[in-house]
Amino acid sequence: MKKVIAIDGPAASGKSTVAKKVAGLLGGTFVSTGSLYRLIAYYLLSNNIDPESPVAVASALSDIKLTYRNGDWEMNGIHYTSELRQSEVGSTASVIAVYPAVRNFLLETQRNEARGEGLLVMEGRDIGSAIFPEAELKIFLTATPEERARRRLNDEKGGVFSKADLEKMAADIAERDWRDSHRETAPLKAADDARTVDNTNLSSDETSALIAEKFKELNLK
Ligand code: DC
Repeated sequence: MKKVIAIDGPAASGKSTVAKKVAGLLGGTFVSTGSLYRLIAYYLLSNNIDPESPVAVASALSDIKLTYRNGDWEMNGIHYTSELRQSEVGSTASVIAVYPAVRNFLLETQRNEARGEGLLVMEGRDIGSAIFPEAELKIFLTATPEERARRRLNDEKGGVFSKADLEKMAADIAERDWRDSHRETAPLKAADDARTVDNTNLSSDETSALIAEKFKELNLK
């Protein structure tokens, strides 16, 4: 079984960028999990299956096969990228992420990635609390909603956006946070033994160095 660093936190807190850099610094494997929920959402939207129907969603799962290959997830043998960044896919992902059937379906998929030797750096919402409760290091990465909205807009619009765009994005992010942290199954929350890192005023390099240092301090054999 690999050693695990679990990085959880709210939308646009920098989890992917930071987890990738931490894996690079420590020679581990990076795995993002948000795309698993986004892939299922994309499948439902493309096949006109109602995401608001837990029964329809549960029955669609048997037609979906998710595999991790060449550093990313594939669905039924196909690698999707820009399709998954659409905001409708993101909000649908957050809707279906509340269904226990979806979370159970993805549990083993995620745990499988820790097979073998080495280090796994996995990021998501419930990695430290539900997927790997025994993770060697658990980080809860956060930043203010305004800063997270700014980062998401920088990604999406290359830094050119209005004050109204910023306000709308901050409101969308606040709504997503609320839904992710109030669902019954595996809600977004810091695991009891997680260390919270607020990176509002830190660069991704500074944040990654800090997390890699915390891992080295554990002095694991
Ligand atoms: O990280 P992201 O924005 O790509 O995630 C999309 C949605 O998937 C997010 O709103 C909540 C859900 N998600 C989850 O419930 N558990 C995870 N481990 C990862 C994502």
